[in-house]
Amino acid sequence: MLRTHHCNELNLQHLNQKVTLAAWVKTLRDKGKIIFVDIRDKFGITQLRAEEGKSPPEVIETMRKLGREFVVQVTGTVIERASKNPDLPTGEIEIEVEHIQILNPSKVPPFLIEDETDGGEDLRMRYRYLDLRRNTIRKNLELRHRIAQATRHYLDSQGFIEVETPMLIKSTPEGARDFLVPSRMNLGEFYALPQSPQTFKQLLMVSGFDRYFQIVKCFRDEDLRADRQPEFTQIDCEMSFVTQEDVLQMFEGLIRYLFQQIKGLELPAFPRMRYDDAMRLYGSDKPDTRFGMPFVELNELVKGKGFQVFDSAELVVGICAKGCAEYTRKQLDELTEFVKRPQIGAKGLVYVKCNADGTFKSSVDKFYTETDLQQWATKMQAEKGDLLLILSGETNKVRKQLCELRLEMGNRLGLRDKNQYSCLWIIDFPLLEYNEEDKRFYAMHHPFTSPKPEDLPLLDNESEYANIKANAYDMVINGVEVGGGSIRIYQRPLQEKMLSILGFSPEEAKAQFGFLMEAFEFGAPPHGGIAFGFDRLCSLFGGADTIRDFIAFPKNNAGRDVMINSPAPISQAQLDELGIRLVNKKA
Ligand code: AMO
Repeated sequence: MLRTHHCNELNLQHLNQKVTLAAWVKTLRDKGKIIFVDIRDKFGITQLRAEEGKSPPEVIETMRKLGREFVVQVTGTVIERASKNPDLPTGEIEIEVEHIQILNPSKVPPFLIEDETDGGEDLRMRYRYLDLRRNTIRKNLELRHRIAQATRHYLDSQGFIEVETPMLIKSTPEGARDFLVPSRMNLGEFYALPQSPQTFKQLLMVSGFDRYFQIVKCFRDEDLRADRQPEFTQIDCEMSFVTQEDVLQMFEGLIRYLFQQIKGLELPAFPRMRYDDAMRLYGSDKPDTRFGMPFVELNELVKGKGFQVFDSAELVVGICAKGCAEYTRKQLDELTEFVKRPQIGAKGLVYVKCNADGTFKSSVDKFYTETDLQQWATKMQAEKGDLLLILSGETNKVRKQLCELRLEMGNRLGLRDKNQYSCLWIIDFPLLEYNEEDKRFYAMHHPFTSPKPEDLPLLDNESEYANIKANAYDMVINGVEVGGGSIRIYQRPLQEKMLSILGFSPEEAKAQFGFLMEAFEFGAPPHGGIAFGFDRLCSLFGGADTIRDFIAFPKNNAGRDVMINSPAPISQAQLDELGIRLVNKKA
């Protein structure tokens, strides 16, 4: 070994011991006669000391040559420090250097390798290996490792076995866009990288594996956001001979186990909320339930008083912001501007201040009396000092808009504490979702999700499609969809019917999913499962908003890896070999 100890190990118990350390130079302080150097490794920091006239001259000479991030090997004696640093485990000692060797010099790093760095996102991504040298980012990856280990431990103890499924599979028209890989041996044909191992895990159930899991890379060519990467990791799971209840219990167990092991938290049982209620009360299928502020629908109280905006609206709905009646004109204008931003798209915001003296002041005083406003306040369970914020319009749109406003108010009121966790299940999702643009139904989860048995007859009546509920569920933590799954279709006729509802001709269905439907004819057991977004879970546990900080080498918002500079063009020879002719070459 090039060292006897690491940089977080030595203390007064090691006094007078001769030790060898190998690490990176963190800081240099040349005080003239005495030189101090802090060296850092993944474990911690140790201070080195050399003194003119006392230390060997070559040590002084080498210490003066050092720069930040040089890799050095040092031998010396552990001595007690004159001025101690109580914040460091090694803060009571230093190493009196007797020998120092530069193992590798370093260029001046492009940003400070400290917890608080001066490097911008782009620079840090370009030199990601230096960014990863910082404690904060490295700790995120250590957390990720621990969550992965605990996940494996829990699932193994429950009889799940980890099976790897292929990365080169077939493109399917459902879901997000695929990443495609041309095949040299089959010119003109393409593999797709898996968006998830969905069909393979179902086939493993047909094979009788009973309980499968995999911590697995998935690929989706979709627009990126803070919680989305083109390649991301799932904890993918499937079980045979289970009901929805069995799946919910098993995986609530996993998440509770992770909170226990990683955060030392005992979480209460996860509440369950029906999809319809989530949409009605929070305008979202992933409500942040760390705080209340549920929606209250006001249609029957507000209509017919001459206020055209409300009279013509499909839905008038509001939230009650506790203690905000004192909001100034400026604050209210900010909220109005917030909902009018193009991303949110509301036309305006109606407010009612429930003043401390029992009077009301609203932006619609012209149309409504104090008694009217009192009725709204009562329905919204408002008290003196509260502020009512009301939006109106077409139901789905206005719910989305109010959802954003509710989250904004949650932020403003400090109700979204990163150290508080609110987990729940959203259940009873619709099976199908109508797309106005394409004028057709899409599967809300995916085409393999089974309808609730009692809704099966509705599959025969197109006007009822939107009312069919699925045995599908999502797990939501602090407003983040961390996982989703369903009980699956496992019989060919039902799968065929589902695909036909989704617009597949029998030929297309056979070409795309014939292998799965054929497997269903060889004794497929009832089965169901779930997949968790592993990166999202890690960022939640780490208290961060972006999953990028929990991925060793992530892509930027344009889907690029700026360190290796990919994606990148390939040579004409490679293109020729693959039989690919580029039509629109990048300038
Ligand atoms: P779904 O598409 O809901 O389900 O994905 C499961 C979970 O994966 C996470 N996730 C992502 N995380 C980061 N970046 C992305 N681009 C991204 N896309 C999804 C989310 C999500 O809840 N095969 C089904 C699961 C099943 O039915 O068992 C599936 O993939 O946290």
